[in-house]
Amino acid sequence: MRYGYFDDGNREYVITRPDTPLPWINYLGCQAFYGLISNTAGGYSFYRDARLRRVTRYRYNNVPFDLGGRYIYLRDEECGDFWSPSWQPVCRELEEYQCRHGMGYSIIGAGYQGIEARTRYFVPLDENLEIWQLSVTNHRTSPAAISVFSSVEFCLWDAQDDATNFQRNFSIGEVEVEPGIIYHKTEYRERRNHFAYFACSARVAGFDTQREAFLGPYRGWDRPAAVERGAASNSIAHGWVPIGSHHVKLLLDPGETRQIIFLLGYHENPVERKFDPSGSQSIYKGTVRPVIAKYLEPAQAEAAFQALRSYWCDLLGTCQVETPDEHTNRMVNIWNPCQCMATFNVSRAASFYESGIGRGLGFRDSNQDLLGFVHMMPARARERILDLAATQLPTGGAYHQYQPLTKRGNDDIGGNFNDDPHWLIVGVAAYLKETGDWSILDEPVPYDNQPSSEQPLYEHLQRSFRYTLERLGPHGLPLIGRADWNDCLNLNCFSDTPGQSFQTTTNKEGKVAESVFIAALFVLAGRELAAIAEHRGLPQEAAAYLSEVARMEQAVCDHGWDGKWFLRAYDDFGRKVGSKECEEGKIFIEPQGFAVLAGIGLEDGRAAAALDSVRALLATEHGIVLQQPAYSRYYLHLGEISSYPPGYKENAGIFCHNNPWVMIAEARLGNGDRAHDYYLRINPSAREPISEVHRCEPYVYPQMIAGRDAPTHGEAKNSWLTGTAAWNYYAITQWILGIRPSYKGLEIAPVIPASWSGFCAKRKFRGTTYHIAVKRTGPGNRVSLVVDGVPVTGNVVPLADGGVTDVSVEAALS
Ligand code: GLC
Ligand code: GLC
Repeated sequence: MRYGYFDDGNREYVITRPDTPLPWINYLGCQAFYGLISNTAGGYSFYRDARLRRVTRYRYNNVPFDLGGRYIYLRDEECGDFWSPSWQPVCRELEEYQCRHGMGYSIIGAGYQGIEARTRYFVPLDENLEIWQLSVTNHRTSPAAISVFSSVEFCLWDAQDDATNFQRNFSIGEVEVEPGIIYHKTEYRERRNHFAYFACSARVAGFDTQREAFLGPYRGWDRPAAVERGAASNSIAHGWVPIGSHHVKLLLDPGETRQIIFLLGYHENPVERKFDPSGSQSIYKGTVRPVIAKYLEPAQAEAAFQALRSYWCDLLGTCQVETPDEHTNRMVNIWNPCQCMATFNVSRAASFYESGIGRGLGFRDSNQDLLGFVHMMPARARERILDLAATQLPTGGAYHQYQPLTKRGNDDIGGNFNDDPHWLIVGVAAYLKETGDWSILDEPVPYDNQPSSEQPLYEHLQRSFRYTLERLGPHGLPLIGRADWNDCLNLNCFSDTPGQSFQTTTNKEGKVAESVFIAALFVLAGRELAAIAEHRGLPQEAAAYLSEVARMEQAVCDHGWDGKWFLRAYDDFGRKVGSKECEEGKIFIEPQGFAVLAGIGLEDGRAAAALDSVRALLATEHGIVLQQPAYSRYYLHLGEISSYPPGYKENAGIFCHNNPWVMIAEARLGNGDRAHDYYLRINPSAREPISEVHRCEPYVYPQMIAGRDAPTHGEAKNSWLTGTAAWNYYAITQWILGIRPSYKGLEIAPVIPASWSGFCAKRKFRGTTYHIAVKRTGPGNRVSLVVDGVPVTGNVVPLADGGVTDVSVEAALS
């Protein structure tokens, strides 16, 4: 069952009924001011940091699920009937409801009793505000008198404090009101130099800024008293709950359309120029007024929207493909990069499943997110790499997270995840291959943000590598620390206290528990580092890295192989985890996918055997589950993984992040059919027809789909913010379609389904556009290249000479 359809021409998903199984959301903004918006206009906005600079309030875990947002109410003055064109919060039955989620914008609206109303919501490039362009059309045969009410509920900035500290917060709310503009300035009197505003382009008949005055006592957003009676009360918030609402009266002739623009923005004043007149307590508005005036102009708002459109057109233009499969095309060309932008920007901080107060930007997560982002905006990727590296600890280890506002590391959710440092190498290698910007390695970068601890970025990579060598266990495999990629495999934790966090509780020092996954990651990162060293003219260093890599590969073969698949780990007692000897959790996906993608066991049959085991034991029609059999009870020595009921999350859920590792592994073995088959199993567009099962958005990946042990097998949760976005993009574009940036040029190595006769692609790479046509001339994966009409040996298109804008590449696959 579907709840809408893809409009690929407009790069939109069109939702045609408001009661989607879960809120289906979109992200507004791509630089500093962000908004989350659901298909019924729910959600909130923030500036840079979803916890510390929350602009509007949102209540998570609400009833219904999604309540609170950017609501507009219309009231028919003749009969007093009122409704919301976004359906919620009034929930009148609407005619032709429609929500179009596009690239950085959403258009939500509906018809009701002959009145059509639509709002286009977006954040203009380089501005800290969102524009709501509302148009109201009278399709009746008689004139219509319509009242429009806008509404937002302001957050008192720190979303955590806002949700808990009522004894203080009910007394601090402050606003200022000018005709058409509501300023929210709580705490501006003291240490803040920022405020929010909500402005309206039309002449207002009234306003409200105190929630209780607008809603009325004992009422919710579904029937505000002001809307019901058709008049605002011009309330001024003193403490309690500041909101913003404008009341505009429209008289529409038959066929007439009127547009009203609302702006919701964030603004900072110079600290020394906060008040006007100085000595007063009123906001200095000299710098904000021109911004407001500009975007209240319809022509300017339209121009800003067109600029956003062409911005996205350019971004997506970096890589466009045309394959025989519509789900591949749609995800690669439109939605997967759109999701990669969101994960790059907000990491795992703010979604409808991440509250915006719990997590900063993850070290491991953000490095992996680069894989799906670096080709779009290399300059921002560069900045991110340097920020991440600056939080690295002198030991080479990493804070697990950092706060985007301060760019400081924090271990609010634990430290000593022993995989963390290697992801920096993986991220930097992806950046170097994409850009060829070797200068980044010489950038001085501090450790733990300490002044005068700066060392070249390259030195950070060396420490990342050494970190593991200094932490090897009894089998010569890496010690796991608190956990590796799988945050929930906590082998040193032994937590028996209810409610204790597995992520932050004190761990045993842990000199025994080892991770085969980190071993595989070490092999991958070590090879990347060796290639980097080689390129820097350090062949001896490169050789030294490779010999450590070889030693680790040997350790994996000697101690990390279970006969038919790779082991997962050794626990604190030195016993195997993820082995046929185990009662439950006999086989895990991570070491199978990752060892093979790192190149382990390709020649000796281990890789093929491991992937056959995955297929036989872990693959389901909805994707590949994390392990089997699921843990049916809590194991003290395994930790959080066994805390989840079977089939969910890390306990045998389909944890989508690691599925592409298996796709890449299959591609490395030349199995295009299998790789693409796995790709389609979790591809959201391919799952659109079963939206009633999948339930999450059909245009972005979820973190998890319930595994076969769960009663809700196939049901997705936790959409948008997941490493799944970057890894799937990387798997399909670089390993299945095989268009792969390398140090020497663009490598063309497709491993596609046997039934495909070929595909075309346009890929911008280091300033040149490559027009690639792949044609199947035989059943295999052997590539013969013709570049600009001239045959080339090997499968790398050599770097184009400076100034060359277009290169044509024909690749025959046989
Ligand atoms: C979440 C975390 C990620 C971790 C994964 C597996 O997605 O953000 O860092 O690797 O879970 O536990
Ligand atoms: C894992 C989970 C993630 C959770 C984290 C901390 O990464 O996948 O959702 O927040 O562990 O428990």
